[in-house]
Amino acid sequence: MTRMSEPLTINRVEVDDSSPAGGVIEVWTVDRPDKLNALNTEVFDALKAACATASNDDTVRVVVIRGAPPNEPEEGKRAKPNSFVAGADITEFIGANSNDVRPKFDDNAWEAVWNLEMPTIAMVDGFALGGGSELALSCDLRIATTRSKFGTPEINLGLIPGGGGTQRLARLLGYGKAMEMVMSGDMVDAAEAYRIGLINKLVEPEELEDVTMAMAANLASKSPHTIRVAKRAVRGALEKPMTEGIEYERDEFCALFDTEDKEIGVVAFLERSKPDWVGR
Ligand code: COA
Repeated sequence: MTRMSEPLTINRVEVDDSSPAGGVIEVWTVDRPDKLNALNTEVFDALKAACATASNDDTVRVVVIRGAPPNEPEEGKRAKPNSFVAGADITEFIGANSNDVRPKFDDNAWEAVWNLEMPTIAMVDGFALGGGSELALSCDLRIATTRSKFGTPEINLGLIPGGGGTQRLARLLGYGKAMEMVMSGDMVDAAEAYRIGLINKLVEPEELEDVTMAMAANLASKSPHTIRVAKRAVRGALEKPMTEGIEYERDEFCALFDTEDKEIGVVAFLERSKPDWVGR
């Protein structure tokens, strides 16, 4: 089923799994290919709305975010490059002061994606720059093609990343590489992105969809409850001091012993059968 909510297209793909937990993988496509899928206000609002809807829908097991591929070029014109998202829409920055941008950045799409409880994957083919790299960083995993490029070029606009980029890059890559990217504004090619841990998988363009959907299906095959606990436990490492984080993990681990899915998983393992999760 496809739900059109211009300029974000939402495809709901049934989980190919006989598990009663069932559900769907939602694929969100930022659909402004002529502007390299730049995030204008409409895309921001559509992303926030999609997050709110998915959060209230227990059937959504995994969210995949991608950019629309380029349209066929008009006669005599060159083709636009492939792009995940080439940043926030720069045309909206002209003449804007802090009072204008503050509301948009206080309640923003990057945090809405970051705060989703189900697993999220950025499926990247092409430019992931500025707010686009931050959108990818707001996801749990990033799978990118060999022709992709990442960067935080805001410094060249007299700005810095404003969608969590300085913080999430420093935590994902470490202080040194984050500092280099943010201060230089230079792009990182896909091979380098893979080498430094910015992306989880590096694939050829023709493999991207299959590899991403296989990853999404794998995540969707886990207990929907347990995978959310796993996500927030790992997130705990970003916010808590070590000893507090270890205690937090232990609390989450022990609480899982009161779930039906723990018993289902353990029994299925011992019986060499497939677990039929119930999601609690
Ligand atoms: N905001 C608004 N429009 C954007 C955009 C953005 N972030 N990124 C690209 N576009 C638009 C271009 O203005 C152009 O529109 P037009 O065809 O109507 O003139 C179209 O997308 C294609 O981009 P173009 O620059 O012609 O493609 P290119 O192949 O020459 O260069 C990039 C590709 C990605 C290197 C270049 O578009 C770029 O540097 N984009 C801005 C990246 C950036 O600074 N992002 C951070 C923003 S906070």
